[in-house]
Amino acid sequence: METAEIRRRWLRFFQDNGHTVVPSAPLLYDDPNLLFVNAGMVPFKPYFLGQERPPYQRATSVQKCVRTLDIDEVGKTSRHGSFFQMNGNFSFGDYFKEGAIELAWELVTRSQAEGGFGLDEAKLWVTVFHDDDESIELWKRIAGLPDERIVRRGLADNYWHMGVPGPGGPCSEIYLDRGPEYGPDGGPEVDEDRFMEFWNLVFMQYELADVRSKVDFDIAGDLPAKNIDTGMGLERIASILQGVDNLYEIDEVYPVIARASELSGRRYGASHDDDVRLRVVADHVRTGLMLISDGVVPGNEGRGYVLRRILRRAVRAMRLLGVDAPSLPELLPVSRDAMAPSYPELQRSWGRISQLAYAEEESFRQTLRAGTQILDLAIADAREEAVREETTGGPVAGAPQLSGSKAFQLHDTYGFPIDLTLEMAAEQGVSVDEQGFRRLMAEQKAKAKADAKAKKTGHADVSIYRELADALGRSVEFTGYDQVASEARVAGLLVDGSSASHAREGDSVEIVLDRTPFYAEGGGQLADAGRIVLDGVVVEVDDVQKPLGDLIVHRARVVSGELTVGDHVQGLVDVQRRKAISRAHTATHMVHKAIREALGDTATQAGSENAPGRFRFDFNASAALPPSVLRDVEARVNALLADDLEVHAEVMSQAQAIEAGAMALFGEKYGDEVRVVSVGDWARELCGGTHAQRSGQLGVISLLGEASIGSGVRRVEALVGSDAYDYLAREHALVGQLTEVLKVRPEELPDRVGSILARLRDAEKEIATVRQQQVLAAAAGLASSARDVYGVSFVSHDAGEGVSADGLRTLVLDVRGRLPGDRPAVVAGTAVAKGRPVVVVATNDEARRWGVKAGELVREAAQVLGGGGGGKDDVAQGGGSDASRVREALARIEHVVGERVTGR
Ligand code: SER
Repeated sequence: METAEIRRRWLRFFQDNGHTVVPSAPLLYDDPNLLFVNAGMVPFKPYFLGQERPPYQRATSVQKCVRTLDIDEVGKTSRHGSFFQMNGNFSFGDYFKEGAIELAWELVTRSQAEGGFGLDEAKLWVTVFHDDDESIELWKRIAGLPDERIVRRGLADNYWHMGVPGPGGPCSEIYLDRGPEYGPDGGPEVDEDRFMEFWNLVFMQYELADVRSKVDFDIAGDLPAKNIDTGMGLERIASILQGVDNLYEIDEVYPVIARASELSGRRYGASHDDDVRLRVVADHVRTGLMLISDGVVPGNEGRGYVLRRILRRAVRAMRLLGVDAPSLPELLPVSRDAMAPSYPELQRSWGRISQLAYAEEESFRQTLRAGTQILDLAIADAREEAVREETTGGPVAGAPQLSGSKAFQLHDTYGFPIDLTLEMAAEQGVSVDEQGFRRLMAEQKAKAKADAKAKKTGHADVSIYRELADALGRSVEFTGYDQVASEARVAGLLVDGSSASHAREGDSVEIVLDRTPFYAEGGGQLADAGRIVLDGVVVEVDDVQKPLGDLIVHRARVVSGELTVGDHVQGLVDVQRRKAISRAHTATHMVHKAIREALGDTATQAGSENAPGRFRFDFNASAALPPSVLRDVEARVNALLADDLEVHAEVMSQAQAIEAGAMALFGEKYGDEVRVVSVGDWARELCGGTHAQRSGQLGVISLLGEASIGSGVRRVEALVGSDAYDYLAREHALVGQLTEVLKVRPEELPDRVGSILARLRDAEKEIATVRQQQVLAAAAGLASSARDVYGVSFVSHDAGEGVSADGLRTLVLDVRGRLPGDRPAVVAGTAVAKGRPVVVVATNDEARRWGVKAGELVREAAQVLGGGGGGKDDVAQGGGSDASRVREALARIEHVVGERVTGR
């Protein structure tokens, strides 16, 4: 049975049983605790927790999910897929255990001819939470299961929660015995490959607070109602009904394996290692496809990083299979064709999806080329270091190792993934300090996370915001689309992250109002600032955020008086700031539209920031925007500003918005009403932000430039209104000054500056030649200045600033050539090139016979200079950072020469 048919049967069965069919939410669901939707119940969480009233009592869905925690297991076992779909049926305070078990048993065992899945009752087992006698009785009565096929299990297996605070409860799972060829008899306790779990019925009845691990958590209390949340892995049931071994072999996934096998010439099923790689390819290509489709863009943090990692792992697995040519153009369309029957949007957005994915592969290929060179150098260094330690008997004598910081640098600066570093170093017999690397990674991540969290949630715990939201009992009314001043009631206060009834003069406070004109940062628009006042009380608002759902929190300081919960106040938005931000926001929409006109619809928005008087806009494009296009975009928008188009907002259904040609963003809840902002009839976009009333209010915009901010993503930055004017006026004044100084007309400036630069370069070259000649002219004099150091002719000379390392080397060798060859001679020179000290030492044959080696002398000197270096016995070169110590370095060389000769 095809996967698409399984999905249809599922939805029909539950619809026939009184469930509302709810389309899958996007993978990027707005939940502060989750990177991606990872279970069918995620969009329903507020209903389970009683935070929102469910619009239905029974629902069913097939939800897209992504889990990447055990990504390293993908392909190795048959149970881990990074993207999967979860069939779910849900009851919100309606049926409970009995209803859930009846429905499940009916669908699973009803014959295929009658619309069921037709599994053989004799092969089904179930597990229940250890003290759940009620479920055991139900399974016996409803399904007629014998005692030996009902297994009691503990917390680790039969209790489900989200891994974070939220709803949870005991569960009961249904298993299929796949037969003796898969493993020993004895039920799920003995072998979970043979006995494969495919459906989890969760009896949601508790709210969990502190979740420390799967089995270690606190129960905060009962949920308002007893609910049902079930999840059947669509890929698992598909593998059962299609009679294949694992989820990689089902109709939605296998075509990619087949294509990868064709491209690589490696047969699936021939070698374990290759099979794992082929499965990784098939899984990751599909996950990448679905993530990009839902609006994720490859990047270096958060969701973007997960996507990047997934795509790169796929490409890397193909390379390990021996395919060096670009792979995604071959594989992604195959995955699209396999998934499109269930997800038609993959066809609609194909231009954007493929462009982003292919650009990411291309940039990874470049990374591989650049990083490989750097890595080779680092490995050579590690080897040399090891040899040195062997001669000096260092701590890990002879075992070459790449430091954690080098591996981190490769990762951080060159995007070179650690698994690649490990593998390529191992190929050359060099190990990597992986622990050191992980430590640095963890430090970096912790910092990034702390920064992000501090911004969003201030210092308070999310649960405190939940309490505030609960106390308010409904969402905050945002009045700011039409008003910049509103009356409101203080619904809650946090002082130092704890709930408070008063805030006094000088306090930093977070304030929840029942209604507010203040716009909270979101959708790329910065927060409003302003004041909250009442008789004798003034509070300065600096920031406004939505730390949880739609809860709007004002971060503020009490300037005078005392603010009390329940007070009736006035919220006064800083109008100038708001207007400047709104103008920037409207400008962003217009630039977005103009860029799309120029580049086509694949140039979709990838991020933006709208600030007072300026904005930046990120969009997907595989190449730089040529300056001429940038100028056209700027000219087009400025022309439309003068046309003074009306800007208006309308709330409509998603379908109407798409119909009206609105540029869609991602992450909107399906079926929701959306707000569409239009600039004239021209730019239409889904948007929750605030805007100018007419385009004429923007005055003028000026694009400052365009740059890459990651593979396939470009950024334009721009100024709006008086900021744009000030900028242009400054540039104009600058041109005026230059024409004055250079005595040419403005249009002649580039030529004039070019010719001045050329003359300057020539002059510099000439100076360098003259200086070099002077240095060499000194050689004869230096040779005659040789001193006797324990029988060695020793010359030392500091050539000073402006002599290059090469020049110094020539000088030192020249002086050595002038010294008599029948007695030992050492010449040491220093110079300061571009602010950094260099040292060069040369020895003759006789000196080396006496045991005096240039490489060693340079190392000693470089140490004094705070650097390193080395080389051969006859001539060596090094450098450092402390130019003030060159004399000391030369003295050190003389001292070591003495030590070597006298044997001390
Ligand atoms: N939430 C449960 C799970 O993810 C059942 O849907 O397994």
